[in-house]
Amino acid sequence: MDAVRNPYCPGAGTAPPELAGRDELRETVRVALERIRLGNPSKSVLMVGLRGVGKTVLLDQMRTDADGAGMHTIRMEAPEGRSLPALLAPQLRVALLRLSRIDKAKDLAQRALRGLAGFAGALKVKFHDIEVGVDLEPEPGLADNGDLEVDLAALFEAAGRAAKVAGTALVIFIDELQYVQEAQLAALISALHRCSQQKLPLCVVGAGLPQLRGRAGNAKSYAERLFDYPEIGALPKMAARQALEKPAANLDVQFETAAVDRIIAQTRGYPYFLQEWGKRAWEVAEASPITEGDIAKASNEAVAALDESFFRVRFDRLTPMEKRYLRAMAHLGPGPHRSGDIAAELGRKVTALAPLRNGLIGKGMIWSPNHGDTAFTVPLFDEFMKRIMPGDDWREG
Ligand SMILES: Nc1ncnc2c1ncn2[C@@H]1O[C@H](COP(=O)(O)OP(=O)(O)OP(=O)(O)O)[C@@H](O)[C@H]1O
Ligand SMILES: [Mg+2]
Repeated sequence: MDAVRNPYCPGAGTAPPELAGRDELRETVRVALERIRLGNPSKSVLMVGLRGVGKTVLLDQMRTDADGAGMHTIRMEAPEGRSLPALLAPQLRVALLRLSRIDKAKDLAQRALRGLAGFAGALKVKFHDIEVGVDLEPEPGLADNGDLEVDLAALFEAAGRAAKVAGTALVIFIDELQYVQEAQLAALISALHRCSQQKLPLCVVGAGLPQLRGRAGNAKSYAERLFDYPEIGALPKMAARQALEKPAANLDVQFETAAVDRIIAQTRGYPYFLQEWGKRAWEVAEASPITEGDIAKASNEAVAALDESFFRVRFDRLTPMEKRYLRAMAHLGPGPHRSGDIAAELGRKVTALAPLRNGLIGKGMIWSPNHGDTAFTVPLFDEFMKRIMPGDDWREG
């Protein structure tokens, strides 16, 4: 069918034509943010889930929702290797400049901007990557100790006070939060704790891989009391159906029921895969309705496309030994697997492989659901590993 009108959009962070199955969580977060704005106790939300389940698009939708409700929002993504203060400072500056244009909040927002100047100046020694425009002279003693944990708390407190008199909330959206180093994560949590104790309307809505929950708990033991960790996963059947059918129906195109069932069976309801299958089904079909036979053809193309993009970008970041480790996991099945079993497949000791395993966790390829267990962070990655490394060569290295 007409490629120009193809509504499906597999991609990283690409908003889907229909954001299916996430209304309840959007409402939960809406209520949490409204409560925080009023100074009522409420937990911040850190969404956790595997690659491609829709964390980023949901985070962006929540930000749009919050903007629409008159909140002040900023958004950032924590890439590997950049410091949290370097990411936060420029965004916070923008938010504070905006707040300073509100009459009631002007003085307090300007004070927070002074705090930001002190913060950046004092932390530059430790975090060389901090670069932020300075609008006002620092206020000596405000957020300028040079200790991230102390200074971030002071800065958030100052920013929270400005948001409060403005009658709004300052909501910080952070994606890929699992990449933030533990000491910096600890500082963030402790700063949010301070705001929550003082009933200040400043909070974080975050997203990350499943290891985020453990990392936050390690960073600060009280993180569990401060955050909810809703799990974002594959869509339940009804929602997966809606994700496929609705965008097509909007363009007067229908699916045979068996066609949709087949897509759901093959994708297991994972959002990225639904978009990929939807796109290929549309390309293959001659006309409405899209049939089960169309899906049979589309599946080959969808798998090939995933192997070239979604899976490939992950695979290409691996060292040869990391590839062997993941291939050994794939040999054992979808997982999770005991680290000992993986090591045994490779004829190595668990302790000898521990640094490699830690490296893979750091890269976001695997995570540990329980002590000693190892699981993929990419859905259906086991099947891909077997396709790309067929045979038994991986055992030899
Ligand atoms: N609720 C949904 N319904 C239908 N499609 C969705 C839904 N959520 C996400 N998608 C689609 O799934 C794909 C992946 O979404 P997104 O990039 O947000 O995932 P992610 O969890 O952030 O992945 P990663 O961990 O790799 O960053 C996109 O193509 C998006 O359009
Ligand atoms: Mg994402």
